[in-house]
Amino acid sequence: MSQKLQPVRGTHDLLPEEYERFAAILGEARRLAELYAFQEMATPIFETTDVFARSMGETSDVVSKEMFTFETRGGESVTLRPEFTAGIARAFISGGMQQHLPLKLFSAGPVFRYERPQKGRQRQFHQVNYEWLGDASPQAEAEMIMLAAHLLFCVTDCKKKTTLYLNTLGDAASRKAYRAALVAFLAPHAASLSEDSQRRLQLNPLRILDSKDPKDRELIAHAPRMHDFLTPEARTHFDEVRALLSGAPENSFGKLVRDLVEDIREEPTLVRGLDYYTHTVFEFVANSDDMGAQNTVLAGGRYDGLIEHMGGSPTSAVGFAAGVERLMLFAADDLRQDHEFLHTRIVLLPMEGVPLSFAYSMLQAIRSAADEYRVKNPQHKIVVEIMPTGSLKKRLERTNKHMNQNKANYAVILGADEHAQHCFTLKHLNTRVENKIGYTKVVEMGRNTALFATLFPHQVAQ
Ligand code: HAM
Repeated sequence: MSQKLQPVRGTHDLLPEEYERFAAILGEARRLAELYAFQEMATPIFETTDVFARSMGETSDVVSKEMFTFETRGGESVTLRPEFTAGIARAFISGGMQQHLPLKLFSAGPVFRYERPQKGRQRQFHQVNYEWLGDASPQAEAEMIMLAAHLLFCVTDCKKKTTLYLNTLGDAASRKAYRAALVAFLAPHAASLSEDSQRRLQLNPLRILDSKDPKDRELIAHAPRMHDFLTPEARTHFDEVRALLSGAPENSFGKLVRDLVEDIREEPTLVRGLDYYTHTVFEFVANSDDMGAQNTVLAGGRYDGLIEHMGGSPTSAVGFAAGVERLMLFAADDLRQDHEFLHTRIVLLPMEGVPLSFAYSMLQAIRSAADEYRVKNPQHKIVVEIMPTGSLKKRLERTNKHMNQNKANYAVILGADEHAQHCFTLKHLNTRVENKIGYTKVVEMGRNTALFATLFPHQVAQ
């Protein structure tokens, strides 16, 4: 084979250093999910194609152009999930979760869309996804927006770096009336619309509002507005969401959101690409230019009709998702790194001639004790490894490579003397202090976690 194997177009590896940033984002997302009373759950990475085709809309870009769909050996059409919402709705129905409403559900994992890859846009990416089922109130929308803003605030280490765009799509009756008005307005100009918009005029006219084509945009500027077609109920609902998010001094909710984002704007052309949305829809857009064209970091909305449409009983729902890779670009250097953790690295260095059985029994005893300690002190990361062979100089060089300001580094030296006395020499590489420690102490350390901290203090000064 002469050609080097490469990752598939639009996919990428998360090598260890990048993965550390990826995991840090997941950590923030999970912590906030917990704080806002969400339970984590997982659905399969693939579903029968119908789950997505029926829910997201046959004419949506995702369903019509972007799904990874294939036939199983049994002849069933399945699709790699292009999002979480439809799969969660399917699980809610098939798992009989109705009786547990209201539910707040968090999920994270890979999703797949056959899009044209570019910065911030991949064919396999990851989402963190939050759904709140069984609450129809405007407060639920406002609280979800609050959570989304809070997440973006946390991944940038408490900086305001986004604008929140808001719109309402009303209820089914509002949508129907608006759709008719929009088609009546656009139809006489059909010939001057872009090719994509001409197709959408028949199938999904609301999506024309999303068009980036300059001529389409000119027309859209004069098109009728959704707000004028809202039913009284839909209007009241959105007015309440607006009021909750307003910056009025008596409204602490609005103030809280405004403390987390740079700006809140209503955007009447925001329709979102998926058919299931009703009432409030929202997107958070990064304000810096670093993200290129893909600057929407998080998006979602209410989708009250979806579960019923998929065969369940009527269930109100609101949710959002953020792309983890996009959050990594967005957070850039602001992402809180591992500095909240204490780090200790312990390396066992058996000298030539020392039986490995002795070295490994010491390794296992120290590892067990370190693990007991870690369970009780989760903010303290501990690595225990053995470098059994090679020249001592080379091994010490490799160990010293890990020296940094916030890591305590220990070498556990196991020579002939130590073997004879059933002990080890502990060298604290940061301070160069050496001690001999007997095996019995190590065993005791397993039962008494405080002893671990005494023998391996997190002292980092060099
Ligand atoms: P979405 O707007 O299709 O919504 O995607 C949500 C987020 O996923 C985007 O804001 C972006 O951060 C990220 N994303 C989307 N496509 C890509 C891509 N090709 N590469 C990298 N990141 C991408 C949904 O998926 C809805 N299910 C959200 C939702 C949940 N609505 C209600 N509940």
